[in-house]
Amino acid sequence: MPVYSSHVNVTATDSLENRLEVNAKYASFDFHEWVISRLGFQAGMDILDVGCGTGIHAIEALKALRGTGSISAMDLSGDSVGVLKNNSAGHDNLDAVAGDMNNLATIIEQQFRVKRYDLAYSVYALWYCTDHFGVLDVMRHALKPGGRLVVCTPNAPNGLREAIRRLGHPRPDLDQVTSFGPNVLEPYFRAYFDEAVIHLRRNLLRITVVDDVLRFYKSTGYYDPAIAKQLESLARLEIDMNGYFGFEKNIYLIEGIAR
Ligand SMILES: C[S@@+](CC[C@H](N)C(=O)[O-])C[C@H]1O[C@@H](n2cnc3c(N)ncnc32)[C@H](O)[C@@H]1O
Repeated sequence: MPVYSSHVNVTATDSLENRLEVNAKYASFDFHEWVISRLGFQAGMDILDVGCGTGIHAIEALKALRGTGSISAMDLSGDSVGVLKNNSAGHDNLDAVAGDMNNLATIIEQQFRVKRYDLAYSVYALWYCTDHFGVLDVMRHALKPGGRLVVCTPNAPNGLREAIRRLGHPRPDLDQVTSFGPNVLEPYFRAYFDEAVIHLRRNLLRITVVDDVLRFYKSTGYYDPAIAKQLESLARLEIDMNGYFGFEKNIYLIEGIAR
């Protein structure tokens, strides 16, 4: 298989914010609301957010906690953790630290005040680490009895990648990203939880502005400047014909309840 290089730091704060903005503007349903309702934040909970990014979920957790319980959040990007800290000033039940989730056990032990959780979750982040099972083990072992482990990840098909494939540029190396749920998470949850629930959610993005198609594409891990012109022509054609450039961007969410 050829070696593919990435032209984008997909985990950088600006890439993340661009993707979140385009998603929020064009998704066929309220993705944010859907994830929040499945995370099920409630007052008094102790919560662990792994790969928190700029804190889109941690901020909602803080609102639901209303000063009770705690949230311990971590991310590789110090910039993103800085955004979360700025946006949550005054909440003393939040610990937010920059670090690598591959070292999650040490971070919990040495940097978080709270070490056992009612809910441990990772939204669109677990995939990026190198030790998936190691991180899942740490999250699972950190649950209180009856606590929940929730992981949310992209699910196949990724419509934009399919469009780029049709333009003659397949990226077979990335198929494992959108099969991470069924191939990696599901066997893990089956092995370690008596009860696990999988939610599959179709999400259709209908982007009506060519520049937003390109903005979204430029913030993905498969952005390639050599392909951008072709994608721009395709998006322009579809927007002229249909009023939008549409593609699926589906979601896989799995939840296990600790004994
Ligand atoms: C797609 S973003 C999701 C962020 C956030 N959970 C959200 O839903 O907005 C992926 C996040 O994973 C973080 N990340 C990537 N590798 C990581 C690692 N090894 N340890 C901790 N965080 C990591 C990135 O910095 C980025 O903020």
